[in-house]
Amino acid sequence: MADGAVSIAMITFLLSTLLLSSIPEVAICTSPSPLIKDVCGSTAKEVKLDPKICAETLVSEPRVVAASNLVSMSIALIEAGISNATKTRSYVQKMLKRRGLKPDYKYVLQQCDSGYEHFGWSFASALGEVKEGEYDTATYDIKVGYTDNIDECRNALSSKNVKDGAISRGNAFLFLIGEVGFNTVDRLPSH
Ligand SMILES: *[C@@H]1O[C@H](CO)[C@@H](O)[C@H](O)[C@H]1NC(C)=O
Repeated sequence: MADGAVSIAMITFLLSTLLLSSIPEVAICTSPSPLIKDVCGSTAKEVKLDPKICAETLVSEPRVVAASNLVSMSIALIEAGISNATKTRSYVQKMLKRRGLKPDYKYVLQQCDSGYEHFGWSFASALGEVKEGEYDTATYDIKVGYTDNIDECRNALSSKNVKDGAISRGNAFLFLIGEVGFNTVDRLPSH
């Protein structure tokens, strides 16, 4: 009887600890806005993309969450891409300063450094073009950014069989942001 009471108290305690510890996570986790669901869903109709992973990725980007229409969403996606590429490039440049890098890894870092630089140029052009209403040129530049430019880095990783988590996460993000950005700008009515 006493034992039973103790274990019930114990279970209640453990359960409430579990519940309490999971509350902050629930509170922080933003659910995707209708616009995020819309752009992920629309992109998933055109390319092989998991709309759930897309939405989960985009809710972590405050400027994308704040976007209220397709134009501000396009701008937010491009800016999020530039920001992530700039940060990933800083990481690459920091690694490049290390002594005694293996030649294969050094080659990969150099290719990624260059790839992110070119990505930045392409996306910066696209950003200006979206703001000017030149949507056709903008889609072209976005495409070059997330395919040709990022491929400089991706191809080096795979040809040298090098694994780098930070670079791979960056590349996956830039590819996703590029696909959704391309599709979103492509939907803007040209004038
Ligand atoms: C780029 O974005 C991805 C996905 O959110 C994230 O995992 C990665 O840490 C970001 N890279 C940098 C350097 O912020």
